Amino acid sequence: MNAPATEDSFHKLIHENYMYGLWEIASQMTPHPRPEAVPWQWKWSLLERVVKESCTAVPVGDERRAMQLFNPGLNGQWATTGTLIAAVQVLLPGEVARAHRHSPAAIRFIMQGNGAYTAVEGEKVIMREGDLVLTPSWQWHDHGNESGDIVVWMDGLDVPLTKALNAIFFEMNAEIRPRATKPVNGSKSLYGHGHLAPTWTRERPKFSPLMLYSWDQTMQALHALRDRDGSPYEGISLEYTHALSGGPVLPTIGCRVQLIRAGEKLKARRVAGSSVFCVRQGRGRSVIEGKAFEWSRNDIVAVPSWALLEHANTGSEDAILFSINDRPVFEALGLYREEALA
Ligand SMILES: [Fe+2]
Repeated sequence: MNAPATEDSFHKLIHENYMYGLWEIASQMTPHPRPEAVPWQWKWSLLERVVKESCTAVPVGDERRAMQLFNPGLNGQWATTGTLIAAVQVLLPGEVARAHRHSPAAIRFIMQGNGAYTAVEGEKVIMREGDLVLTPSWQWHDHGNESGDIVVWMDGLDVPLTKALNAIFFEMNAEIRPRATKPVNGSKSLYGHGHLAPTWTRERPKFSPLMLYSWDQTMQALHALRDRDGSPYEGISLEYTHALSGGPVLPTIGCRVQLIRAGEKLKARRVAGSSVFCVRQGRGRSVIEGKAFEWSRNDIVAVPSWALLEHANTGSEDAILFSINDRPVFEALGLYREEALA
């Protein structure tokens, strides 16, 4: 029979054998989320310089010329928030980014330049400023620029989430540009009619079958609703919807656009789940967990989960923010919560 264990000897025994007492780690069960990601802003003045220098410093090889926005709180992890990665990608006239596919889902939001394309599963999708383009999970995609513009967009992917689930798969296509098998912008001509969807198609994918959400349609909707009350926390905030189900565009990433009227100051709220926004137009100030960020066109801002967030328009024109979020995951798993400041 061994001698009776002391507290020290007992802890030594369990630690040596890959065990911990709940009493040792219970502080990790926090009363609310305490993300390691911090609120952070990448100013366009910096991004523009980085984009410009990247054009001569780095070729488009097998990988994209996409600068990944690493959250300073996440110790070098490939993550802008706990679940999302945002990047700024640039394609010069004549360049092609080779076809590949991956299990992380992606969106593109076009920041500058017109006429480059993303080919998704055989459909060439022409991209213009302000457009949202989807490349859902495991869909072949390549990018090309047959225009004369330097084209810059924000990528948004669910890489940190997919990685946490050990669900990353990736495959390079044997061809740089697989053959087009569908009409140019074909999903838009089929599914891009708002409240009317074709009855004869049989596909019911988890992701929206519409790959292109055009800026002109987005602006029409924002303007039509501009004089409504909107949300006291988000202003005239609209969700991009799955063309068949009306749900989020992707199972893991929600996309929104919000208009904050000139002079408008919104109320503070926190939500479970993180987001990243890109300023499409206007100027404003967002206070995130007590830290103020002054923003203008093409700035990108990371908002961690449960961060107290308050937006204000500080300019003389309407401000418009595009954002990605992980809300669909929180909703699907029953984890979504929100709390307004009393
Ligand atoms: Fe990709």
